[in-house]
Amino acid sequence: MRPHNPERRRLTIFPTVHGGRSELTCLYRCGDACNHPVPNTSDNEYLGDVIAKAVSRRGLIKGGVTATIVAGAAGAAATPAFAADADDAVELGKRGSRPRGLDFEAVAPNREDAVVTAEGFEQQIVIRWGDPVLEGAPEFDPEHQTPESQAGQFGYNNDYTALLDHPDDSRKKVLVCNHEYTTESSMLPGYDEAAPTEDQIRIGMAAHGLSVVTVKEDRRTGALTPVVGDELNRRITAETPFVISGPAAGSDLLKTSADPEGTTALGTLNNCAGGTTPWGTILSGEENFNQYFANFATMTDAEQKAKLARYGFSGGASARKWEQYDPRFDLEQEPNEPNRFGWIVELDPYDPDWTPRKRTALGRFKHEGAGPRLSDDGHVVVYMGDDERFDYMYKFVSKNKMKHGSGRSAREHNRKLLDEGTLYVAKFTGDSPAAEIDGSGALPADGAFDGSGEWIKLASGDTSYVEGFTAEEVYVFTRQAADQVGATKMDRPEDVEPSPKTGKVYVALTNNTQRGTSGKAAADEANPRNSNKHGQVLELVEDDDDPRSLTFGWNLLLVCGDPAAADTYFGGFPKDQVSPISCPDNVAFDPYGNLWISTDGNALGSNDGLFAVALEGSHRGETKQFLSVPIGAETCGPVAQAKHILVAVQHPGELDGADYDNRLSNWPDGGTSLPRPAVVNVTTPRFGNIGC
Ligand code: FEO
Ligand code: CA
Ligand code: CA
Repeated sequence: MRPHNPERRRLTIFPTVHGGRSELTCLYRCGDACNHPVPNTSDNEYLGDVIAKAVSRRGLIKGGVTATIVAGAAGAAATPAFAADADDAVELGKRGSRPRGLDFEAVAPNREDAVVTAEGFEQQIVIRWGDPVLEGAPEFDPEHQTPESQAGQFGYNNDYTALLDHPDDSRKKVLVCNHEYTTESSMLPGYDEAAPTEDQIRIGMAAHGLSVVTVKEDRRTGALTPVVGDELNRRITAETPFVISGPAAGSDLLKTSADPEGTTALGTLNNCAGGTTPWGTILSGEENFNQYFANFATMTDAEQKAKLARYGFSGGASARKWEQYDPRFDLEQEPNEPNRFGWIVELDPYDPDWTPRKRTALGRFKHEGAGPRLSDDGHVVVYMGDDERFDYMYKFVSKNKMKHGSGRSAREHNRKLLDEGTLYVAKFTGDSPAAEIDGSGALPADGAFDGSGEWIKLASGDTSYVEGFTAEEVYVFTRQAADQVGATKMDRPEDVEPSPKTGKVYVALTNNTQRGTSGKAAADEANPRNSNKHGQVLELVEDDDDPRSLTFGWNLLLVCGDPAAADTYFGGFPKDQVSPISCPDNVAFDPYGNLWISTDGNALGSNDGLFAVALEGSHRGETKQFLSVPIGAETCGPVAQAKHILVAVQHPGELDGADYDNRLSNWPDGGTSLPRPAVVNVTTPRFGNIGC
């Protein structure tokens, strides 16, 4: 067990245009997206202009919402204002019997340089950036890091996290994490961002990607310890070969001088959230890939530039300067190389010999993650968000059905499921008059932000359903295809995950401070606040509870922010009994059906955290903070199992002004140590069920 740093720090959070996120994080994580123009300049219809015709399922959703509004109305006053440095625990009242899994005292918002869990839980660091993974990898030594050592060690900025059963040893588990991005100025001594050395660049490349690590589980405490060199352990980096598969594989749009066939790409970049398939593989989303490519400004082909601009490409040199040592990152030399990023990748953690895939059938955009669900008859449906202001939400439905069983033929069959199917984009329609959606966040007269929606077909195999686009073009330029069919511009769709218990789909819409600003789409019922700083969580129910359905109902479960503010909503639960929550990002479900939400960029002035939310019954909307992450960090992962809560703590101490020498966090090792992204395992002291 590694105790958290007990020293309480009171650091200033700098107000920036990025809400709660530092300039440094913006630069290295998203390629400074907030400071660039919104790439979606299409003139898609605004949802709020349309009055919905209710679909059959919506009545059911609306009934549930109305019931909780009535039940919650009495307690909706006198909420204490959130104070960033409040030391008092949030008082959460009882309201009937507490839902299973939520029996803990909420953590108060804070700015500690520590992971602070609810009272009575143990926390343990499972693995940190630089810890050895592969046989022979050296212990972490930041003063003498090399590309080779990093390629055998755990990568930087762990994000999506899965804890899977081990195939043949019940005392072990398989931990899979992706590594979204690197912040070289905080990782490497003597780093000059104007002139990085080749070694520094290759360390950065090796710190991207994914890690597969077998861990031993202590039966008594639940502690998870890496088994260095285990046969399943694996590092995927920015240089690992991937097979490009599915309907766009081999397209001229994907050919480069190093890969004239258009079927093999090197590496995966900016992997953000992900998902685990019912057949045990890992899906991971390539997100802000544009930032790794240089020399957009000097490209001369206007058509190519327009296509890249829709994905946020701009400028000359890239922030990390990889183009100086690897020409594939120079757009002037390899204009098709960026078309080989922006995909969902699939990795089989149980088969180290299987080359990971880039799944073109799932479309190319700034993929946040991928949330799979099986239909009753065995088709796999994958829900996905495109994390950019005013971009879209998608789903893929497989043509073929999953084969059950773990035999070789079932596995081989299932590992092809994501190559054939149909790609759709979502259109949301509100059911309240547009005049009642005024951008303030005030609930409309029917008491709910809700409505219906449709899945618009984009492409299926070689068939395009989008005028003017071939199927290949739909897959490679999915954003433009979705513009054409009138998809709904959302407030940054991040994680989109179906509940394994109910099949309802939860969408984290993290924020959009440009909503309703000059020339931008105004508030609509699904995105009801202009200058939206805190985001919302949308609940989507497929018609007939069939994930293959072409229509759905939806409502907003949470309109996030300070519960004391008039523009927030917590599923109708009394707002004086919930934790403040801002900028929902990743979601997961515990075995009891509660939703767990991690946040990124808390714009309320305190550290990011992990929250549990009741979804059903009289506690629907009850939101409780389970933990907070250290100063400057983002809460990623998360994993919510009966006995383990795991979070990937990303970019601890990444505040403006931080670098290798100026350390604004010393988590997790304390003293004056270098902050290190790491995976934290939270358990009860006797390794019992959490929150029960
Ligand atoms: Fe990488 Fe959308 O957060
Ligand atoms: Ca994320
Ligand atoms: Ca409504």
